[in-house]
Amino acid sequence: MTTHELRQKYLDFFKNKGHAIIPSASLLPENDPTTLFTSAGMQPMIPYLLGEKHPLGVRIADSQRCFRTQDINEIGDNRHTTCFEMLGNWSLGDYFKKEQISWMFEFLTKELKLDPNRIFITVFGGKLDINIPKDDDAVQLWQEEFKKLGIEAKAVENVTENGMQDGKIFYYDETKNWWSRAGISSSMPVGEPGGPDSEIFWDFGVDKQIHENSQFSKQKCHVNCDCGRFIEIGNNVFMQYIKTKTGFEQLPQQNVDFGGGLERMTMAAIDSPDIFNIDLFQTAIRKLEDISGKKYDANADDNKAFRIICDHLKAATLLIFDGANPSNVDQGYFTRRLIRRSVRYAHQLGIEKSFANQIVEEYINYYSEIYKIDSKKDQILAEITSEEEKFAKTLEKGLKEFEKMSRGNKISGHEAFILFSTYGFPLEMTEELALEKGINIDEAEFNSEFVKHQNLSRHGSEKKFKGGLAEHSDATMKLHTATHLLHSALRQVLGKHVNQKGSNITEERLRFDFTHPDKMTPEQIKKVEDLVNKWIEADYQVICQELPYDEAREKKVTGLFEDKYGDIVKVYTVGDVSAEMCGGPHVEHTGELGHFQIKKEESSSAGIRRIKAVLN
Ligand code: ALA
Repeated sequence: MTTHELRQKYLDFFKNKGHAIIPSASLLPENDPTTLFTSAGMQPMIPYLLGEKHPLGVRIADSQRCFRTQDINEIGDNRHTTCFEMLGNWSLGDYFKKEQISWMFEFLTKELKLDPNRIFITVFGGKLDINIPKDDDAVQLWQEEFKKLGIEAKAVENVTENGMQDGKIFYYDETKNWWSRAGISSSMPVGEPGGPDSEIFWDFGVDKQIHENSQFSKQKCHVNCDCGRFIEIGNNVFMQYIKTKTGFEQLPQQNVDFGGGLERMTMAAIDSPDIFNIDLFQTAIRKLEDISGKKYDANADDNKAFRIICDHLKAATLLIFDGANPSNVDQGYFTRRLIRRSVRYAHQLGIEKSFANQIVEEYINYYSEIYKIDSKKDQILAEITSEEEKFAKTLEKGLKEFEKMSRGNKISGHEAFILFSTYGFPLEMTEELALEKGINIDEAEFNSEFVKHQNLSRHGSEKKFKGGLAEHSDATMKLHTATHLLHSALRQVLGKHVNQKGSNITEERLRFDFTHPDKMTPEQIKKVEDLVNKWIEADYQVICQELPYDEAREKKVTGLFEDKYGDIVKVYTVGDVSAEMCGGPHVEHTGELGHFQIKKEESSSAGIRRIKAVLN
């Protein structure tokens, strides 16, 4: 089975169960200041999980591309990838556990024809201090499903100490079976939705001796063991809670958030314990074999290099497709890191020529079946090659320098900074090289060097990760509405060629990228500010309407990122000055915004300007 086939089967299955199918959103969240990347299918769905009405109804399904920075260092094993598709189906206050569990079981065993004897389940074991009980309902529902196929599904506890105990369903604590974007901990931000979850695991079989041959062989094996015998292929989140200041409350609606790894489900469907054996990676692996003259072997030492290169270049392809060109800041920093790390591992495989384009081309071919990626092919290839060549020039010298520096079994933060600033080694790469030699790096010292040199880029990204998640604060909502006004004002002052190219909002400021060939003059900036402030003073009502897509187009509503929308769209109108398709939320009256001020107007890339503005 191929990934394309599996994705289609899943979407068809849920379409038949009354779900509206929506396209994948971008890897770069729009109007969400809280995270750099879309890392779960539910992220673009948050307003609807919290109760906002979705224009397409209460049952939605999709396959969302995701990128998880926290998995970058995991790549090299049999099952992790940084960038993957998450198959998702949502009940927005409609069906709940019963339907979800029975449909999911049906999908896995009937559509994918997975052997139910090799499917295992985990459920939430309860957390009494926050008054959330263990999920016996889910256990019972799963047991009924297994029973229909003649399987007694025993539920067991204390798995980490006692192992599997012939169980089929396992209770785990909140570190494994509670889902929200920030875990269950007290630092989870107020307003974040979450709930107990029930995960589905595939067993590659005890006969393959995966556990016995792993570094975990001394421990008891169980489904969440890191040995790789089992993989999680999906997670049913019963999202019925919201974090409050004092604990958790029931959300007004009971939601289901299912997320299934497309690539991992394909592993189960073809019963391969190596994710790099699925069709999506095979063409890239074969190409890399040709280029390097080496054979990929899941058990050989250089499998890590193969896996890192194939994973990272795939992620870089999609990140650039979504607008994160390699750079020193924010999202682009990750694209840079991925490409540079690939170049380093290619060097390790003995590849001496520029090679990345050939791998990336394989991915562009693959994704052209589902995304309009062809239209950006040249740009993607150009960005990749330019980054690759830039780094290839300094890599070898940098590695020599690293060898010299590390002779004393120590790398100072200052030295790491030199590798960064002179040889383009991302700190993480130096850390990785150091770790291979068993050396640590003084990160604090590196950071202070960094700040000293006033290159705050990486620092900025870190801050963003640590900053609170989700929750549409008043400040961001206001800046969101201000962004619409700014867009209209720019079109009035500069002309109708102005189109939004990107938007990013933090609590403090908005950032807006738009098409315009020249630097704005001070007079133009002033005009734009005055217009926005005039509209704020006019205290227009902000009205939200749901319109069929075509009608919205006819009305000349400003439509952005066409691909993202389904048939019915939400349109936010501000008096007669702005009408834009948008997911919201917005303030009710422009008068709430205060005073609008442009802080900066600069070039973002060729033909694209960037404005940073504040409300005060
Ligand atoms: N939101 C859940 C996850 O990402 C489905 O695992």
